[in-house]
Amino acid sequence: MRVGVLTGGGDCPGLNAVIRAVVRKGVQEYGYEFVGFRDGWRGPLEGDTIPLDVQAVRGILPRGGTILGSSRTNPIKIEGGVERIKDNLAGLGVDALIAIGGEDTLGVARQLHDRGVKVVGVPKTIDNDLNATDYTFGFDTAVNIAMEAIDRLHTTAESHHRALICEVMGRHAGWIALHAGMASGANVILIPERPFDIEKVCGYVESRFKTKYAPIIVVAEGAHPADGQMDVQTQELDAFGHVRLGGIGERLAAEIEKRTGKEARTTVLGHIQRGGTPTAFDRVLATRFGLHAIDAVHDGDWGKMVGLSGTDIVRVDLSAATDQLKTVPAERYSESEVFFG
Ligand code: F6P
Repeated sequence: MRVGVLTGGGDCPGLNAVIRAVVRKGVQEYGYEFVGFRDGWRGPLEGDTIPLDVQAVRGILPRGGTILGSSRTNPIKIEGGVERIKDNLAGLGVDALIAIGGEDTLGVARQLHDRGVKVVGVPKTIDNDLNATDYTFGFDTAVNIAMEAIDRLHTTAESHHRALICEVMGRHAGWIALHAGMASGANVILIPERPFDIEKVCGYVESRFKTKYAPIIVVAEGAHPADGQMDVQTQELDAFGHVRLGGIGERLAAEIEKRTGKEARTTVLGHIQRGGTPTAFDRVLATRFGLHAIDAVHDGDWGKMVGLSGTDIVRVDLSAATDQLKTVPAERYSESEVFFG
């Protein structure tokens, strides 16, 4: 058996740990050969490969990014894209594919599976917004990076009696904001799932100043005021039709200054949340996903994604994973509200 591996979408810490586990178990236990496809779906679309053997995956466990490269190429949008992928797989003698990605990459995997490609998916995203898995790897690392940054913001905010806003990633889900904000004792957490009331936010800011502490507001990039449009930096769309988010932190700072008369500044964490070495949790989760993905290939269990359920790794249909986003439930957000103000 010759197995192709690709990583698609935004990179995240732990991708290399998955690749290493897939190859190590695949070679050692099943005697498989591997082919690495470069830059997500661009690789199979253009037949662009790199050698992938045990030697190639030595030493990559702690390394961030992906040795295979990534892209947001969407072959479904390209005329004849699916046929080109099928032809290239056949030409390269690739029997099956392991696609490591988020909703977009796995959405393509699902469509390819429907059109006869043997594929298994592995869920990755710092956003933690994939259904049918309790966690995606990369999320824990992103939360820890944000938590550490917010801890640092606390001390400087207090010295200068400023309101500091920390804008975090997460696209249309508030998981990173919720977890990083709870872990670091944020004064207010704003998430896309709950449009915010700017009056209330300013009230929290003022009450925090009265206690002689300085407020820290954690805002998800997709958060927006109750009566307004989602704040977007540009209207630019990627190949999957997602708008590029960002800018809500700056808008919020201007509004808080105007309404409270207190100085407010914004830190945008951006891609720092996706870079560098994975946490122990993410290394273990990614490794277990990789081990179970190659088992699914061995069992011929096509069209499945490996997922985490409690502490077990399970197999679910790719459709269950990609049908809808996993967003923050109202009860989870309410837990954090106890600490606002
Ligand atoms: O999906 C992961 C993510 O980091 C989102 O949180 C963010 O909105 C998006 O990717 C940014 O993508 P890019 O790096 O392509 O601008």
